Amino acid sequence: MSKKIIIAIDGYSSSGKSTMARALARRIGYVYVDSGAMYRAVTLYAMRNGMTSPDGKIDTPRLVAALPQIEVTFNAAGADGVQHTLLNGEDVEKEIRSMEVSSLVSPVAVIPEVRERLVALQQKFGEEKGIVMDGRDIGTTVFPDAEMKVFVCAGPEVRARRRWLELKEKGEETDFEAVLANVKERDRIDTTREVSPLRKAEDALELDNGEMTPAEQMEWLMDKFYSISGEK
Ligand code: DC
Repeated sequence: MSKKIIIAIDGYSSSGKSTMARALARRIGYVYVDSGAMYRAVTLYAMRNGMTSPDGKIDTPRLVAALPQIEVTFNAAGADGVQHTLLNGEDVEKEIRSMEVSSLVSPVAVIPEVRERLVALQQKFGEEKGIVMDGRDIGTTVFPDAEMKVFVCAGPEVRARRRWLELKEKGEETDFEAVLANVKERDRIDTTREVSPLRKAEDALELDNGEMTPAEQMEWLMDKFYSISGEK
């Protein structure tokens, strides 16, 4: 029997990496962890407790002091086949995907203490291997020794369009230009921040999925998975 590996999938926001990572995990029977959801849950906690302002300012000292009281976990996949994110035991899956959380999550994700806590949690999830985790720094910081690393890229317009459609499907009507601006702003913050900026790990495989269908992406991933893990 081949041994289980760690699969790290990093990339820009709305690059489709979560959908891809989730589908891959299901197909190969691995655990899936959405690390972005963890940053979003911490952001929601900060919002709910008056630690954020609409202009993107975060009350960092208060949030850092509250970190020991913030638990982020995931439940088993429910009827919709998707596992939900829990903030102190409460299912916040829907709330963490709102535009409000999206526009405040980058400044929360630059706080070193927040990263330290979430990275430690993520590493714990990976102790048993057999995991697919997606994010920004999984192949560089969280699991630098991951056996399979993928870096997903696609242009900002393609990604903004996906995000806009996703929000529309959820009944959140937003202006495309506003979504595009949010995607670009998050790219800027994610790639230029001091702590764990988004960058391709040297040994990561690059996947430009701008023109690929989900089936083509899966085929590409399975091909790499088979050759790296030795599983057939
Ligand atoms: O993948 P996402 O859009 O749900 O991620 C939300 C935010 O969290 C994103 O703006 C960057 C941050 N993030 C991070 O800094 N490190 C990760 N490993 C995952 C997400």
